[in-house]
Amino acid sequence: MTYADIYNSWKSDPEAFWMQAAEAIDWVEKPSRALFDENAPFYEWFKDARVNTCYNAVDRHVLAGRGDQTAIIHDSPVTHTKHTISYRELQTRVASLAGALRARGVGKGDRVIIYMPMVPEALEAMLACARLGAIHSVVFGGFAAHELAVRIDDATPKAIIAASCGIEPNRVIHYKPLLDGAIEQAGHKPDFCVIFQREQEVATLTEGRDYDWHAFQAGVTPAECVPVEGDHPVYILYTSGTTGQPKGVVRPTAGNLVALNWTMKNVYGVDPGDVYWAASDVGWVVGHSYICYGPLIHGNTTVVFEGKPVGTPDAGTFWRMIEEYRIKALFTAPTAFRAIKREDPTGELVRKYDTSSLKTLFLAGERADPDTITWAQDQLGVPVIDHWWQTETGWAIAANPVGIEQLPVKLGSPSVPMPGYDVHILDEGGHEMPAGDLGAITIKLPLPPGTLSTLWHAGDRYLKSYLTTFPGYYETGDAGFKDEDGYLYIMARTDDVINVAGHRLSTGAMEEVLANHPDVAECAVIGVADALKGQMPLGFLCLNAGCEKNHAEVVRETVAMVRETIGPVAAFKLAVVVERLPKTRSGKILRGTMAKIADGQDFKMPATIDDPAILDEIRAALATLGYPGQPG
Ligand code: COA
Ligand code: AMP
Repeated sequence: MTYADIYNSWKSDPEAFWMQAAEAIDWVEKPSRALFDENAPFYEWFKDARVNTCYNAVDRHVLAGRGDQTAIIHDSPVTHTKHTISYRELQTRVASLAGALRARGVGKGDRVIIYMPMVPEALEAMLACARLGAIHSVVFGGFAAHELAVRIDDATPKAIIAASCGIEPNRVIHYKPLLDGAIEQAGHKPDFCVIFQREQEVATLTEGRDYDWHAFQAGVTPAECVPVEGDHPVYILYTSGTTGQPKGVVRPTAGNLVALNWTMKNVYGVDPGDVYWAASDVGWVVGHSYICYGPLIHGNTTVVFEGKPVGTPDAGTFWRMIEEYRIKALFTAPTAFRAIKREDPTGELVRKYDTSSLKTLFLAGERADPDTITWAQDQLGVPVIDHWWQTETGWAIAANPVGIEQLPVKLGSPSVPMPGYDVHILDEGGHEMPAGDLGAITIKLPLPPGTLSTLWHAGDRYLKSYLTTFPGYYETGDAGFKDEDGYLYIMARTDDVINVAGHRLSTGAMEEVLANHPDVAECAVIGVADALKGQMPLGFLCLNAGCEKNHAEVVRETVAMVRETIGPVAAFKLAVVVERLPKTRSGKILRGTMAKIADGQDFKMPATIDDPAILDEIRAALATLGYPGQPG
């Protein structure tokens, strides 16, 4: 069957399409139908089924005789360790951890926050929660205590599972003090914490609140899988929106199982037993869908890599990994390849390794620039597939489905919509744009299984953020166009989200931090083009009248504040003091215009601008930082 056959078969009978895909899942009680639209525009999939995620990701493979197959490869150049875990071992470990959590009162529907680096125990913690029907929320290690506190207050977890430390190439990340700080800041307090002690830094446990990962499990009865309803959330994952309050994306159990399993063969072209590596982090959606759930549900071997594409120890690490583990599919962000290309432009290190097991390279998370794609293709000699999706959707909206058929690659396009996604480009009035014209990228409702069902405890915000601008459609927040062949091109965000090294960040959240500086009267943060990270945040600061402080000092302090409050992942290092900000007559800050000036792009003078002369001041301020003209 061709892509067109499959896409059309979905379009003509979505119910039959998803019920057939659902046959690959082991249900405790099968769903009677796929879509439940009684509460539209809140849609639910496989709602009347009963099923368990962990059973499908672990136990069923052991029962099917795959117990000795490696489930997880852990490769950690930052600790110089490697080890593997079979499906059978994984089952024992997860059942034990789940048993210990249950013994301390964690059950179906309870939330558990997980704050861990790239160790297999992070996946085990996720799976142990899923085994009990508890809802996990993983928080990325690069976030600071305040961000963790915000998530604790929103998710109100019964327990937090953390590691004592994480390891970045240049430093140890002290997770435990961050965790303690976050619990202190948060209004909600968890009943208890479980700490996975790493030998690189053993944390001091808080008596009566913290348990050691191993001691906690001593003598417990292993837990069996608890069947849950199809629409029961398997996890909440917070992602950046327009404000400092992150959005808690809710992922229902059954849709996650059915959709991810379908993508492993059809999008990624791998079969059970194949080694599949998503070089990302468990804290991001790629880590949820393609380090943990997708590969394990499908019976693949997944890779937990604790290192970087460069510097651990060099730009040949990815190729060493491919050779050593016979990796068939690699998925990463274009940034990683830009970093490798910068260190090894001629691909000398690529030729030192046997990468013949690799069949396809997948890129997502940010725009894949044609230079990077071409370089990767030339070096590896395999198709390089850009695909486009977001935390909210959990899996690819658009891709080149190599497992079905490889369509012609068009540089700069993540190719075509996947079954389940009816993509429309709309103008501001909601009218369909002709091929080639830029508009808001929207998806006709309902979204397919595996996508978000709502925002955690914020149904109104869900409706307002995604479903209100274009009634009947989900607003992706991306702008772009379709060409004559139906290929999509993703051009820019329509909101204040920026993408730094494949990490989704909110400029609004950074502005909220900057505004807290006692000398800052007003501020704006924009994303500027960056040759390595795609974008970097840059702040404009207007100081209070009469502020005599040295500007460089204020800049230093604001940079430190963002790092302290949001975390190092914000990569906020550029800021400049200006007298005024350009605004419309109604007072809206012209961030887009400033970003265009910084990037040296042509722009149309906004008709509603209050005082065009301010743009010259902005230009002069940017020049002091070397913009435009920075690589990018
Ligand atoms: N825990 C704690 N700190 C972290 C972290 C983590 N898990 N991940 C990143 N950080 C820190 C970094 O150490 C860095 O700190 P610094 O300012 O002291 O140098 C900061 O956050 C910014 O990180 P990053 O933007 O990733 O830059 P980098 O210079 O460390 O690395 C790349 C650059 C390109 C090598 C890196 O971004 C990368 O590997 N990207 C791959 C993309 C990816 O995995 N995307 C995920 C979505 S698919
Ligand atoms: P996240 O939720 O962190 O996965 O970020 C999702 C956002 O990243 C999307 O809405 C896009 O803005 C951007 N993005 C992800 N993949 C791509 C891609 N292949 N091409 C262009 N932008 C992308």
